Amino acid sequence: MCFSLCFAFEPSPLQDFCVADTTSSTSVNGLPCKDAVVVLPNDFFFSGLHLPGNTSNQLGSKVTPVNVAQIPGLNTLGISIARLDFAPGGVNPPHTHPRGTEILVVLEGSLHVGFVTSNPGNRLIAKVLNKGDVFVFPVGLVHFQRNVGTGDTVAIAALSSQNPGVITIANAVFGTPNQLIPSEVLTRAFQLDKNVVEFLQEKF
Ligand SMILES: *[C@@H]1O[C@H](CO)[C@@H](O)[C@H](O)[C@H]1NC(C)=O
Repeated sequence: MCFSLCFAFEPSPLQDFCVADTTSSTSVNGLPCKDAVVVLPNDFFFSGLHLPGNTSNQLGSKVTPVNVAQIPGLNTLGISIARLDFAPGGVNPPHTHPRGTEILVVLEGSLHVGFVTSNPGNRLIAKVLNKGDVFVFPVGLVHFQRNVGTGDTVAIAALSSQNPGVITIANAVFGTPNQLIPSEVLTRAFQLDKNVVEFLQEKF
């Protein structure tokens, strides 16, 4: 009994596909399947990754994700893709994907990339990538990318989840919109003055 229940939540699909039924109100680990008979080619399709993302923002970068939210047919398949655009000096700030390992290929330009190992140690594993170079960011680890080239940089990243999730460290720590983490927590945690914490909370 428990076995069928447990396996139902394994990442390996138990049928050809399980196109997400975005209209269903059923709550499962993932999304419920739409009736296979009414599945259409567009359920497995997305168009637009040839288009550069708009990098005119504070970070000078833009991620265009293509996961189960864009392609319902990715549901249960454990894979997704994204396009990353960077203006010169643009940064994809420290973040983690709680549910997916990422493999990235640089199509154009140069990126300084890195991830940090868990406690204890917190080693930075970093490298400069050029056109055609591939780098892996293991699941859950904090990582970043920065354009160190003279022009725009473009990369494609594949992730081992249809819904890898993103936690951007600065936003998660300083920018919770509903209620802030108490400054007493943040001043001690980051060894900062209260006014610096408040400044950061304003920013994020
Ligand atoms: C890019 O974003 C900026 C800032 O939001 C905006 O002013 C600009 O019109 C956008 N450019 C394009 C091509 O969409």
